[in-house]
Amino acid sequence: MARGFFVTFEGLDGSGKSTQLRKLAQWLTAQGKQVTATRQPGGTRIGDRIRELLLDSRTENLAARTELGLMFSDRAQCIAEVIRPALERGEVVLCDRYTDSTEAYQGGGRQLGSEIVLELHRALCENLWPDLTILLLPDFERSLERARNRNARNVHNGRDENRFEQEDERFYRRVYDKYREIAAREPGRVVMIESDAGIEEVHRRVVEAVKARIGH
Ligand code: TYD
Repeated sequence: MARGFFVTFEGLDGSGKSTQLRKLAQWLTAQGKQVTATRQPGGTRIGDRIRELLLDSRTENLAARTELGLMFSDRAQCIAEVIRPALERGEVVLCDRYTDSTEAYQGGGRQLGSEIVLELHRALCENLWPDLTILLLPDFERSLERARNRNARNVHNGRDENRFEQEDERFYRRVYDKYREIAAREPGRVVMIESDAGIEEVHRRVVEAVKARIGH
């Protein structure tokens, strides 16, 4: 099977993932690569409906396991409809969040543990793992501050995707710690960019990590 290259971006809310994903997509396109960019939750029509349910702060009483199941329902759809076909066409797929988010937020944040997440990944995601994961993790205080600022902006924009941003500091601490645990466990796949180096410097490091793996 012809196979492309699969890159995911991870980090806390407001970590600059989406900006870095866009910049990498531009860089890859300039190198003549075919790029498919997507995000989770969302990225498909069904996924967008699931996303609304998950992120709308009016969603009440969502049990942690329901949340977990919805994240994987969204992902299974995105793999079937977007990721797998693009990889089979030999493209580079960039995905804003993937199963590491579920391990960090539902496994860590919601305290469901890693095992159930990894089991569901095996069962529902054809055990498809990225070739490379960029984890953007500035220090914890800075990450929290950014997430809060973004939360305030979302309110001003009239958007209502703040269900996760309303979580308290202890929740985000558990998410943060779980991300670090994943990075330590999988150093071959996960490249953690810890410093708060500014957009251009982080982009340079992201490109370096990609080049090292796709051989430019
Ligand atoms: P999004 O608006 O995509 O935020 P960000 O710009 O921070 O990526 O919102 C996604 C939210 O959903 C984010 O708070 C993390 C959460 N999430 C999970 O809890 N588990 C998951 O598996 C995924 C993909 C996202």
